[in-house]
Amino acid sequence: MNTKSLRTPLSDKEVLIGENEGDAIILALESSCDETACAIVKNGREVLSNVVASQIKTHMQFGGVVPEVAAREHLEAVNEVIAKALEEANMNPENLTAIASTVGPGLVGSLLVGMNAAKTLSLVYDKPFIGINHLNAHVCANYIDTDLKPPFMALLVSGGHTQIIRINDYSDSEILGETIDDVAGEAFDKVARLLGLPYPGGVYLDKLAEEGNPNTYKFTKAHVGEFDFSFSGLKTAVLQLVKKLSAENPDFNKADVAASFRENITGILADKTLKACEKYGIKQVVLAGGVAANSELRRKIKSFEQKGYKVYIPAMKYCTDNAAMIGACAYFHENVITDVGVEVFSRA
Ligand code: KG4
Ligand code: ZN
Repeated sequence: MNTKSLRTPLSDKEVLIGENEGDAIILALESSCDETACAIVKNGREVLSNVVASQIKTHMQFGGVVPEVAAREHLEAVNEVIAKALEEANMNPENLTAIASTVGPGLVGSLLVGMNAAKTLSLVYDKPFIGINHLNAHVCANYIDTDLKPPFMALLVSGGHTQIIRINDYSDSEILGETIDDVAGEAFDKVARLLGLPYPGGVYLDKLAEEGNPNTYKFTKAHVGEFDFSFSGLKTAVLQLVKKLSAENPDFNKADVAASFRENITGILADKTLKACEKYGIKQVVLAGGVAANSELRRKIKSFEQKGYKVYIPAMKYCTDNAAMIGACAYFHENVITDVGVEVFSRA
């Protein structure tokens, strides 16, 4: 990993972050969707505190995230979450090395809250600001509590993306394939809704699937590019099946449908990831993103170990949105935004 040279926004002093430098303690914020989160991470791998304020209860009544409501809730939660993360880590802001936050992709109003809080801390305490890409951060969650080093293959499955990425070096990666329509998280959420499960659907569908027989229904697999995905046909097939079953018997076995759907989608995700590893001769695999919390996907990817692969799967709390992964990414990734955006004002 190359050393990053950053500058403080007020005194313009150089701050070095890297393996051969002193300890780097980064305060990180995440607010791209419906979680307001703050974490303090040492040297990209050690989480000193990890606080998450979830808005799930609020959005549950609407059946999905309402962007304007999300932004307002972030605003209400952000100061408390920062204070708690500092307290739990027993950390004084003066002792921090840098301040990081997600800058995209995400809901604009939500992103603005975390980003502005981080930039304000950066200016008040004269610490470098590090702006992070949320997707890179999901992958970097795998550096936490491990000794993972590139190269490796990543399967990134979240509520917004489904990608197979070849990670050549900390900041050098290539997307080998992605979805051409629905993303994996969206497919889980939509099928969950068809089955009458609450928001966020993926978690509830996963729980229900544990009680069902995955071989009850067979769904076909879409024919797309070698490492690409398409899940909209699968979603329609489940819709047709649910219509047919509920017409026959309103009390049909939903667990069997959930388990069969989960078997199909996780099978496709795991098979393509394995093929990508074989094609490019990569022996390390990581799982990332909210859908990485799925029990069956975890089992399938973990089973690669029997084929001689080294497998990394983040702890559940680092799969769905959190700030610890932002802190890890701020340490390891080089393609970051460091401009606090008030240069002229602060130097005037
Ligand atoms: O990464 P994430 O927290 O947010 C985004 O960056 O999008 O991912 C959220 C997605 C949602 O679609 C949610 O239903 C899904 O991850 N998810 C799951 C599970 N836990 C969360 N999907 C399947 N099984 C789970 N256990
Ligand atoms: Zn995410």
